[in-house]
Amino acid sequence: MMAGRFITFEGGEGAGKSTQARLLAEALAERGIQVELTREPGGTAGAEAIRALLLDPPGDGWDARAEALLFAAARADHLARRIVPALEAGKWVVCDRFLDSSRAYQGGAGGLDDADLMELHRIGSGGILPDMTFLIEVSEDIASARLASRDQGRMDAIEGRDRTYHEKVGETFRRLAMQAPERFVRIDGSGSLSQTHGQVMAALNRFEELQR
Ligand code: TYD
Repeated sequence: MMAGRFITFEGGEGAGKSTQARLLAEALAERGIQVELTREPGGTAGAEAIRALLLDPPGDGWDARAEALLFAAARADHLARRIVPALEAGKWVVCDRFLDSSRAYQGGAGGLDDADLMELHRIGSGGILPDMTFLIEVSEDIASARLASRDQGRMDAIEGRDRTYHEKVGETFRRLAMQAPERFVRIDGSGSLSQTHGQVMAALNRFEELQR
């Protein structure tokens, strides 16, 4: 039995996940909880090397299948070398993106079957799922405005895909959240950082109450 908790943040581009993941990690640390804050793709040396291949691909880039395999390989290394050891040591792991990003981007938007992606995850990572997933949602307009100020117009290979692709990503996240209400919490990320953080903390407290 794992002693820690595994919490993931998901959402489209510019939703503010990374900031919310950091704010949650800080709040947990203040409660005296040992926290490991990490992200995908990445989190270990090997997975960070795969991240560079994915976000700045050589040649013509990857098709959805090759991309899914690379994300799954990065995730396998990240879980085996970082996430699982941290959980076994009783730490809480807060991860910026995880499996549900593969299901939304390579699955819903890239056209791969969800069952195939789950099978890849089973092969690579024993099918480990988060205890709790925060889906941070904002409108298209807010996301584009945040991205414009963050990236100054520079986009990586996945972020730069067209509007239809990103709409499908958002739809798939919503569907996944509806299919698994026991672990997903949808959070409206359109307010201030502290308003969004407040919603995250309230949902976490409710979740912890239910576990008791
Ligand atoms: P990142 O710069 O971390 O994006 P963000 O700041 O929006 O979280 O880049 C990660 C990109 O990789 C992002 O466009 C989403 C994509 N991605 C997938 O397509 N599949 C996956 O499984 C994961 C983890 C990320």
